[in-house]
Amino acid sequence: MAEKTDPPKPPKAFVSRKTEDLQKKRQRAMSPESPERAAAQKAQGKLLARERIELLLDDDSFEEVDLLVEKRSREFGLEARYLPSDGVVTGMGRINGRSVCVYSQDFTVLGGSLGLAHAMKICKIMDLAIEAGVPVIGLCDSGGARIQEGVESLGGYAEIFYRNVQASGAVPQISAILGPCAGGAVYSPALTDFVFMIDGTSHMFITGPEVIRNATGESCDFESLGGAQTHAERSGVCHFTAGSEHDCFRQIRELLEYLPQNCHERAAAAMPSDDPNRKSEVLDQIAEMTAQKPYRMHDVIWEIADGHQFFEVQKDFARNIVVGFLRLNGESVGVVANNPAVLSGALDINASEKGARFVRFCDAFGIPILTLVDVPGYWPGLEQEWGGIIRRGAKLLYAYCQSNVPKVTVVVRKAYGGAYDVMSSKHIRGDINYAWPCAEIAVMGPQGAVDILFKNDIKKSPDPAKRRAELIADYTAKFASPYQAAAHGYIDEVIAASETRPKIIRALRFLRNKKVAGVKKKHGNIPL
Ligand code: HXC
Repeated sequence: MAEKTDPPKPPKAFVSRKTEDLQKKRQRAMSPESPERAAAQKAQGKLLARERIELLLDDDSFEEVDLLVEKRSREFGLEARYLPSDGVVTGMGRINGRSVCVYSQDFTVLGGSLGLAHAMKICKIMDLAIEAGVPVIGLCDSGGARIQEGVESLGGYAEIFYRNVQASGAVPQISAILGPCAGGAVYSPALTDFVFMIDGTSHMFITGPEVIRNATGESCDFESLGGAQTHAERSGVCHFTAGSEHDCFRQIRELLEYLPQNCHERAAAAMPSDDPNRKSEVLDQIAEMTAQKPYRMHDVIWEIADGHQFFEVQKDFARNIVVGFLRLNGESVGVVANNPAVLSGALDINASEKGARFVRFCDAFGIPILTLVDVPGYWPGLEQEWGGIIRRGAKLLYAYCQSNVPKVTVVVRKAYGGAYDVMSSKHIRGDINYAWPCAEIAVMGPQGAVDILFKNDIKKSPDPAKRRAELIADYTAKFASPYQAAAHGYIDEVIAASETRPKIIRALRFLRNKKVAGVKKKHGNIPL
């Protein structure tokens, strides 16, 4: 009888000792420093740093750099502690097939606080993004400067701020605040183009509730001080809010679809999904309404846009002006529109700053600007005057005057006073300016004008009310129309509202290769 023998073992895949050693190092750097802290993070409904990157990027596209970077912290008991990746994961990947650079702070490592090695990792990935000409996305979740590293961590922040400014206008920069963002740490996001926050979990503030209570006696909590809604509605720091991290990453991916990779490239066109010659009855109906009847500017924007889709930016802040992106025959276009449903569409300080920042973003990245005008003027009042409407309102004027991307303007209804000039008028180099037949382009509205010009005439009249009504009708016929402006060539064409979309698409097609040589200088001095 033959002796029983073990079957031959399959040959073991050869792994060198050095490779094994590398795998161990990688494993250690990628594991949480403390499973309890990782569990606590999850219990708060927050994802871990690497999970966030995975969700944000295209599948299997992440290439990590600096995994094995080690901490510089040696003081206050940190000598013996191993801090995986020094609390930040950095690398390259793809979104919608296009390259991006990304960093993701790990709150489970010393509260995501920023030490020098952590800062240098972020700086390296920003430098790579600037050189490669790709967007940078920061996923922020941090208690700020790492207290144990003192001035080294402050210096680390300053290095990041410096790069934010070098990258500004060169590559799109996006910040997602996914937890606390305290102290000077808020200034890196503030220097980027778009800030996302999550309802309930994101908080941005310079000083916390306790310090505020001690300093000024005011009482607040983290949410009212610096939560997503506070910054979306009141301060304007936040451009987009999201209900969850998943929602936030979906929105970032959508935003990037409208943007170019860098200032030298065009935003990629989408396959046209809508008839470029599509006319709109809805716009004609809006144009037929009386000047006093409010309508939704969003309805106008949706009617013009490909597939009726509009990606709004800062939708809860300064709602008297609407800004955002849409597509026209597949091409990405930035929209700036007065919103008569809020403050009658008048320009105030916040609207001017919101509009100016958006115009400058579009101009920096070669995105054409469509301006839809329905503005009765600047919003009056002591609060506005003392708040600096002169200086701060000038920002929108400056931004439009400085921009040289293709600009198409449509006066939908009112364009009165200085606000007419500001809203991409022909005089400040709107390229093609249209007006609907119901447009009113004048120094001011009929009632106001008649009361100033004919005060004595009305007073002396035997029937002042009748006289006033006659004068208003006369002024309205003469001035509350687009025809005086058209007669002077300040409006290129008065168009039927229904044909607005095809007209804009043709104008933008014509302007596609527009080039303007500006005045040679170091840089202008925008009224900041
Ligand atoms: C070092 C920090 C830290 C920091 C938090 N941690 N912030 N370590 N430096 N700045 C550590 C904690 O000690 C703790 O470590 C772990 O992170 C988690 O912190 P908790 O407080 O337990 O978490 P939580 O209750 O969720 O509170 C989070 C927090 C709070 C709100 C962020 O930690 C906090 O207020 N931190 C300080 C925030 C701050 O004032 N930052 C400004 C720094 S000055 P263990 O080991 O116990 O788990 C600044 C200036 C920059 O940033 C200037 C640039 C120009």
